[in-house]
Amino acid sequence: MTSPAHVAIIMDGNGRWAKARGLPRVAGHRAGVEALRKTVRAAPQLGISYLTVYAFSSENWSRPKSEVSDLMGLLKLFIRRDLAELHQNGVRVRVVGDKASLQTDIRGLLEEAETLTANNDALTLVIAFNYGGRDEIVRTAQKLALAAVRGEISIDSISTESFAASLDTAGIPDPELVIRTSGELRLSNFLLWQAAYSELVFLPCYWPDFSQDHLADALRDFAGRERRFGGLAPREAAS
Ligand code: FPP
Repeated sequence: MTSPAHVAIIMDGNGRWAKARGLPRVAGHRAGVEALRKTVRAAPQLGISYLTVYAFSSENWSRPKSEVSDLMGLLKLFIRRDLAELHQNGVRVRVVGDKASLQTDIRGLLEEAETLTANNDALTLVIAFNYGGRDEIVRTAQKLALAAVRGEISIDSISTESFAASLDTAGIPDPELVIRTSGELRLSNFLLWQAAYSELVFLPCYWPDFSQDHLADALRDFAGRERRFGGLAPREAAS
């Protein structure tokens, strides 16, 4: 079975998981971090080289202040508690999203994680934090426009390849598979550029219940898909 090199996950349903148990939403997010840990451990064994997770979107700021602060706290705790284990297991951490507008302590922790693990190669864990696909595309357009105005690049040199190489995800291959838990059927501003040809798998389970078996099932589903990238299926192209 061919495994995708890059799997991206929208970890949705923490709030509903907590509500179903009569627990506060933060309990769902805590359980979500545990599911994330298990997924990071399982990914390399399943042949995955890049795992991207949507941890905080640029739209999540509109949640109640207390929930935003809980999510920020959980990210800090995750880096502080798990960075040593991630490093020991050869995990390289990359962060995508608008880092510039994050609190300095969070930005510092994220940069520390990226620097410490920069040379690891067992798995690249891409944390999408303060991330929005449209925001990423606009920031990239601004970066290239500035370079053009300064005469560093010519307008003609801007291509799909050079644009991709200027996104937050520069150097990371596009995800072949995007998984979303919790039964919602949308991308919610996640990897809009990169997911152009991704296969999508939607699972009914809430993120805290996501297990290695769900991941293996999604990979099997992916292996049965026919990917055409806008072309024809091999048998149609031959006839
Ligand atoms: C969606 O569930 C999940 C999020 C907005 C955040 C995902 C965060 C985690 C899994 C934990 C934090 C991760 C790190 C690395 C700190 P929801 O709250 O939208 O659930 P609902 O749709 O059921 O309300």
